[in-house]
Amino acid sequence: MPERSGTPDDDPFGGRHPTSHERMTGLPWNASYRDGPPPWDIARPQPAVVRLASAGGFAGAVLDAGCGTGENALEIASLGLPVLGFDVAETALAIARAKANDRGLEVEFALADALALEGLGRRFETVLDCGLFHTFDSDERPQYVASLASVTEHGGTVYVLCFSDDGPDVGPHPVSQEAVRAAFNPGSGWHVAAIERERLQTRFDDVGFPAWFATIKRK
Ligand SMILES: C[S@@+](CC[C@H](N)C(=O)[O-])C[C@H]1O[C@@H](n2cnc3c(N)ncnc32)[C@H](O)[C@@H]1O
Repeated sequence: MPERSGTPDDDPFGGRHPTSHERMTGLPWNASYRDGPPPWDIARPQPAVVRLASAGGFAGAVLDAGCGTGENALEIASLGLPVLGFDVAETALAIARAKANDRGLEVEFALADALALEGLGRRFETVLDCGLFHTFDSDERPQYVASLASVTEHGGTVYVLCFSDDGPDVGPHPVSQEAVRAAFNPGSGWHVAAIERERLQTRFDDVGFPAWFATIKRK
């Protein structure tokens, strides 16, 4: 695909290549947030993230990849940690910034492409991916994981919470454990420390869909 040029005003993808998910839907991610909350935007942090936060799973500077409207980032920031949430959806970022302001929390929310994080020029001890990994297809995952490596401190931790293929009632984009392990393989400098069964909630109900919660260390 040729390089795109232009501004977000004349290019809904802001000059980046549309992701596989955007090509499939025919819409930029930003469109998901224009007419009210999308199904994944539950207006509170994911329970799995709350449990991890209260168990001390987050440390140092934290990056929330594909932060949406910021509930998880705000939950982590409420512990007193510095957090940068980024997304390609400007509308979601505007909502996240307004929430931070309303709640009196200091959180940075920035426009950035998960597939090109080298440009951030920053590194983080902990990275959260809640619902982003599973939107990338198998061609995009190596690029995403390399991009994550460029912003994750050696010895740092990446948490991936993604829909799983575990059971009959799976969510959209179900991912196998093997696919998570293949993406974060030792050859590219990662160690998958744990993959646990979880649930990812949506606006449809509080039961949610089966998910994997992977703890991945950057070697
Ligand atoms: C399923 S939503 C999850 C949002 C949020 N983490 C949550 O738990 O509510 C996936 C998010 O990733 C964002 N996203 C998709 N592709 C992206 C990319 N290449 N770079 C940054 N964000 C991206 C979308 O705009 C969307 O907000």
